[in-house]
Amino acid sequence: MHKIAVLPGDGIGPEVTAQAVRVLEAVGRRFNRKFQFAEGLVGGAALDRLGHPLPGETMDLCLASDAILFGAVGGPKWDQLPARLRPEAGGILALRKELGLFANLRPVKVFAPLKNATALKPEVVDGVDLLIVRELTGGLYFGRKAREPLAGGGFRVTDELVYTTAEIERIARVAFDLARKRRKKVTSVDKANVLESSRHWREVVTAVGQEYPDVVLEHMYVDNCAMQLVKNPRQFDVLVTENMFGDILSDQASALGGSLGLLASASIGGKTGLYEPGHGTAPELAGRQAANPVAAVLSGAMLLRYSLNLEEEAGCIERAVERVFERGFRTADLMEEGRELVDTVRMGDLIIEQIEAG
Ligand code: IPM
Ligand code: MN
Repeated sequence: MHKIAVLPGDGIGPEVTAQAVRVLEAVGRRFNRKFQFAEGLVGGAALDRLGHPLPGETMDLCLASDAILFGAVGGPKWDQLPARLRPEAGGILALRKELGLFANLRPVKVFAPLKNATALKPEVVDGVDLLIVRELTGGLYFGRKAREPLAGGGFRVTDELVYTTAEIERIARVAFDLARKRRKKVTSVDKANVLESSRHWREVVTAVGQEYPDVVLEHMYVDNCAMQLVKNPRQFDVLVTENMFGDILSDQASALGGSLGLLASASIGGKTGLYEPGHGTAPELAGRQAANPVAAVLSGAMLLRYSLNLEEEAGCIERAVERVFERGFRTADLMEEGRELVDTVRMGDLIIEQIEAG
């Protein structure tokens, strides 16, 4: 019996996680695995009901579970609140920090049937298979913040970018270990020509790299990396980078696959693994079953792989998704001429149909 905490959150979060849960149930039936799902409140939904974006009972649920399936949090309704109450800082960021989830894995693999669905030329994106390893509990997101009023008017505002040697070492190890199981190349992304933290990042990643003589290590400035990602994305295998660089580059990389609606993620390294789509709450799509649930469904596959060690089951979900695309079904974000438009629930149905077909 595997206990899975489900935290749907806000906006399209509940709609996409509902499909991910249905897909996991279908895989459970097919492979005879028992999953027990328990829902918890997080983000704006928790704030409205319980007065806090990360209530103690949700934290307890997460700690008592084998893995966490997360939707998305935030929305215009809560944007003006102080940081500790906002769904982002007080909800998901606090959850990542509390659980010690320092490694965020964001794979971008271009599905062959979608290579014409992207904004780039098909020959540029064809065959792309990269993995962004984003540091998740340090860096710009978690450094000291300040807003000091100035005598003459206005403010002096601060966001510190802080890393310790140990924090860089452990994320570098995650990247090298994963590269060993892939094409054995790590690109460490930094801004070492300007930032002190990046200079140390580069030193530490280089030192860790010596323990992995079988893995090729290269360093790249983040501005160049942004350009290389659209110019020649096939050069990348594993990228490892600071929290905010990883946030930005992963949204960009997701466009290679055709849509942010395909970007799955795993946040690991701490107490309980957390799995969430890389997209946000998309308030304009919420409540209409118009969102693409595939990022959430593929996050469910990562949950099986990384927290429950169910590789075959994970692969089954990934192949089912690809077959649905092969058959020509598309959610609105990926719609092209001659394809069949489907909504969130129908996309879930189609993926389940493939899983059941075997
Ligand atoms: C993501 C999101 C979050 C982040 C937000 C919602 C705080 O953009 O998971 O990429 O910046 O980490
Ligand atoms: Mn993001």
